[in-house]
Amino acid sequence: MAAGGSAAAAPLHAETRASLRDFNTFGLPAVAQTLVHVRSAADVRRVVDHPQYGLAAKFILGGGSNVVLTRDVDAVVLKVEILGRRIVEERADAWIVEAGAGEPWHDVVAWTLEQGLPGLENLALIPGTVGAAPVQNIGAYGVELKDRFESLDAVDLVTGRTVTLDAAACRFGYRHSVFKEHLAGKSVITQVRLRLPKPWQPVLGYLELARKAAECGAAAPDARTIFDWVCAIRRAKLPDPAAVGNAGSFFKNPVVSAEQCRDIIGRDPEIVHYPMPDGTVKLAAGWLIDACGWKGKSVGGAGVYDKHSLVLVNRGGARGSEVVTLARAIQESVYGRFGIRLEPEPVIV
Ligand code: EPU
Repeated sequence: MAAGGSAAAAPLHAETRASLRDFNTFGLPAVAQTLVHVRSAADVRRVVDHPQYGLAAKFILGGGSNVVLTRDVDAVVLKVEILGRRIVEERADAWIVEAGAGEPWHDVVAWTLEQGLPGLENLALIPGTVGAAPVQNIGAYGVELKDRFESLDAVDLVTGRTVTLDAAACRFGYRHSVFKEHLAGKSVITQVRLRLPKPWQPVLGYLELARKAAECGAAAPDARTIFDWVCAIRRAKLPDPAAVGNAGSFFKNPVVSAEQCRDIIGRDPEIVHYPMPDGTVKLAAGWLIDACGWKGKSVGGAGVYDKHSLVLVNRGGARGSEVVTLARAIQESVYGRFGIRLEPEPVIV
């Protein structure tokens, strides 16, 4: 059903009682009372000016790869479908590319490489959209979005005004940004600009990539080769959301003090840990969960992925409540054994 926007505006593409099952990578059942397909920044402004939707609570949905839906959604769901990619600028030290927030992230990574612009190869195959990438500062294999970020445009859901934010304004942290703090649900990212540094330098510090380089005897791999390695590594241990519902890593890797880490090592010498530049230590949450015996376990249709304990999966017909029950049980047992609170990475609705 198409609902009208403000008098002069083109109609908004809206549906009522829309199933969200196909719009979240966990494949969880939930219904949106109202779902608006947002195809441009102008559509966001039409929502702001709309007689019904303007003042209603909103829920912004990208690729649905970082949400756990436990119930139907009363808020107006804005499904961001803004497309387009282009090279906007060549500088002495970088290429700047821009992509619509609704573009699938992986497709943009592949497209930049096809254009001969390397720099995003370590971030291949991350599910989700371009607009969701800054929200949680996606990262993998030694590169985070913030390392390749130039700026973004977002439309304020109260004023309808477009703002441009640079990296400092986005306040990026580990799987964190201003869009998880005071801008959460308040503005819709419409365009993201990425900075691909010149000259290109491979990032091969991550253990599994270094191992691939050694295995293949490739001392100086090009970006395409690294892209292929990252895809192969991910495919070998992470489930493809198209085949098995999941939201990637379910928990963040916890960061503890050096003292706390020494304490844990005293009891569990095998613990996988990474010293951070600021003296803290990041622990592999997958290892902690594994150590508590969770690999392969299930609650109803929700389970711990057999090849990677940090990933919770929908084994078929899972409900969001089962995913949350499983997650809580994991948190309790990790806390009981290690005294560490695991923090979920996806947004639980
Ligand atoms: N491990 C286990 N058992 C397991 C899984 C992992 O012992 O079942 C240990 C292994 O020793 C492994 C270590 O944990 O070496 C780390 O695992 P992995 O290299 O797979 O990385 P991760 O810490 O689990 C993080 C990101 C991933 C990202 C990879 C690669 C977080 C929460 N996750 O995972 O991001 O792809 O590093 O850089 O930071 C995501 O955020 O959704 C995501 C997939």
